[in-house]
Amino acid sequence: MGLLDGDVALVTGAAGGIGLATARRFLEEGARVAIADIDSARLAGAVETLRADVLGVPLDVTSRASWKAAVEAVLERFGTLTLLVNGAGISEPADIETLSDDAWDRHLAINLSGVMYGMQAAVPAMKASGRPCAIVNVASMLSMRPGAIFAAYCASKSGMVALSQSAALHFARAGLPIRVNTVHPGAIRTPMYERYLAMAEDREAAEAGFAATHPMGRVGEAHEVAEAILFLASPKASFTTGAQLPVDGGGHIRD
Ligand SMILES: NC(=O)c1ccc[n+]([C@@H]2O[C@H](COP(=O)([O-])OP(=O)(O)OC[C@H]3O[C@@H](n4cnc5c(N)ncnc54)[C@H](O)[C@@H]3O)[C@@H](O)[C@H]2O)c1
Repeated sequence: MGLLDGDVALVTGAAGGIGLATARRFLEEGARVAIADIDSARLAGAVETLRADVLGVPLDVTSRASWKAAVEAVLERFGTLTLLVNGAGISEPADIETLSDDAWDRHLAINLSGVMYGMQAAVPAMKASGRPCAIVNVASMLSMRPGAIFAAYCASKSGMVALSQSAALHFARAGLPIRVNTVHPGAIRTPMYERYLAMAEDREAAEAGFAATHPMGRVGEAHEVAEAILFLASPKASFTTGAQLPVDGGGHIRD
């Protein structure tokens, strides 16, 4: 018996990193899984590394038409949709003085509007599923403890948390069995983290700097975030909605 037997999940941003680790863990727990990403080439590779009956769905989270097509593809293949993990996201460093309009718009379009479009696209299918459903949105330690060089990123992720909690309240009050929660990773060893290291003049110093922002003295691994997402998606979290779960080695409470 798996924790997610009978569930059908759509995981975005799943060509690599946290999304791919989540898809792998969901499969281990018995879910049927569709993985979605804007990077079609890496998405095809991810489908291969998982297993044959995983559905790969090209998706641009900033497009409602793309979301509609993605949910339709999931319903056509698996007949229902019960779990949504919004993992797609971007992070580009800029403080409030250097932040460009383009970067601001890109962060809000992908990290905030993309999550809103995703929830709106998935909910009708969830309501029709006849099963308890769950949405897990991947926020960040930086929405709980903002950083100066992540102005747009912090704003987009904090907006996503407020949106998630509003949705959680709405579904609970409406008596709909759809829970909505957020996970808040610290620095996690993924392609996104690797891009930050690649930007640094001194890679070793940058790695040490990232590790030092977590009281546990290291960065995290994608599978550690996947476990938190699995918990929130599973019946183990049946009375949990509107929660923010940090996965950051204590980073959000550092002194
Ligand atoms: N890695 C970290 O340190 C860290 C920390 C906190 C939060 N997060 C969050 O975790 C989530 C996963 O990030 P990750 O670390 O695995 O990084 P990642 O870069 O490996 O994954 C993000 C994925 O999102 C996809 N994507 C980007 N724009 C998209 C779009 N418009 N439509 C669909 N897909 C799109 C990318 O192609 C990529 O595969 C993100 O939301 C990120 O903000 C990551």
